[in-house]
Amino acid sequence: MTLRTITEVKKGINWVGAVDWTVRDFHGYSTYKGTTYNSFLVLDEKVTLFDTVKKPFKMDLIHNLYKVIDPKKIDYLVVNHVEPDHSGSIPEIVELIQPEKIFCSSRGKKALLDHYHREDWPYEVVETGQEISLGKRTVQFIETRMVHWPDSMFSYIKEDELLISSDGFGQHWATSERFNDEVDQSELMAHAAKYYANILLPYSALIQKLIANVQKMDLKISMIAPDHGLIWRQNPLQIIQAYDEWSRQISRQKALIIYDTMWHSTEMMAKAIADGLAENGVSIKLLDLAVNHRSDVITELLDAKAVIVGSPTLNNGILPRMADLLCYMKGLRPLGKIGAAFGSYGWSGESVKLLTKSLEEMKVKVVHPGVSLQFVPDHAGLKQCVDLGRDIAKAMKEEAE
Ligand code: FEO
Repeated sequence: MTLRTITEVKKGINWVGAVDWTVRDFHGYSTYKGTTYNSFLVLDEKVTLFDTVKKPFKMDLIHNLYKVIDPKKIDYLVVNHVEPDHSGSIPEIVELIQPEKIFCSSRGKKALLDHYHREDWPYEVVETGQEISLGKRTVQFIETRMVHWPDSMFSYIKEDELLISSDGFGQHWATSERFNDEVDQSELMAHAAKYYANILLPYSALIQKLIANVQKMDLKISMIAPDHGLIWRQNPLQIIQAYDEWSRQISRQKALIIYDTMWHSTEMMAKAIADGLAENGVSIKLLDLAVNHRSDVITELLDAKAVIVGSPTLNNGILPRMADLLCYMKGLRPLGKIGAAFGSYGWSGESVKLLTKSLEEMKVKVVHPGVSLQFVPDHAGLKQCVDLGRDIAKAMKEEAE
């Protein structure tokens, strides 16, 4: 089910996108509250559509366009990003509106050709700083290469001080509201942080450069309209400030104990490690992978200093949910973390060695050799775990000094 309501975001600029209330997975990211695919229609001498929607939602977009204007009167299509959640309906939209020009970055043109194989579309390649006139309005393009695809770019409408920011500053959250000041602020920021942690974290260094570039360009920004979630109308700079903080990967005195367990021995160890950390004032999240989705674990990782991972040994390896988490985490390239491993075993006992190797491969500074205990922990074994927690707390304090 979708919500078929258009919203005027600025005079003559309408949100005409689609709300996806039911999507629950976005290539491995748990979109447990759905998402939106935002698309913006600008009425000017050159009527311009910025971005489209995921293919199954093409009729929502077309329906919304008809509410505003005969779609055949649309002159320009701007493609800020070619990932199919924004470009999937382009073939039908191009067929319908027959645009005079399709504006995109050079890598955007390549990606459009690689996805839709249409040499005959009227591509117009643009680059950072380039401007086009829509009549009363001027659009300036800002390439945001690898934030998060090679083709990605922002479109800035000068006269409206509106930044259409593609995936940047987005959130996966289906709502009937369109603006940031209409929703619960803590939930909004939680979705924005989750989006950053799971999509943009690997490009943090580039985001730092992008923020510096945008500041140098001295753009006046009164509204930021991402292609997912709420539009930042009230204090739009707050989300740029949050990105600045997240992209610096500044962590606090917070430790994650992430584990999976077979017969609760590794879980007993996790709780003992938590005791050692808690008695030293460290904020802890105990994350059992049986009940915590990988993408929520990564959101918690965003501001955590320590990451302590635990798994029993299974068939000379680790439990599959832990392997999944480590594979996902490695791709997101978190920086500046410290950590250690733990786990129980029956006879061969490889898990701690394997977990430690994984942490090292992710450039997590391993500050403890880890604890490996056979079958069910006794008091002496649990004491080793408490000591591991204490040692991590000590290392966190030293790193903070
Ligand atoms: Fe929302 Fe990169 O697509």
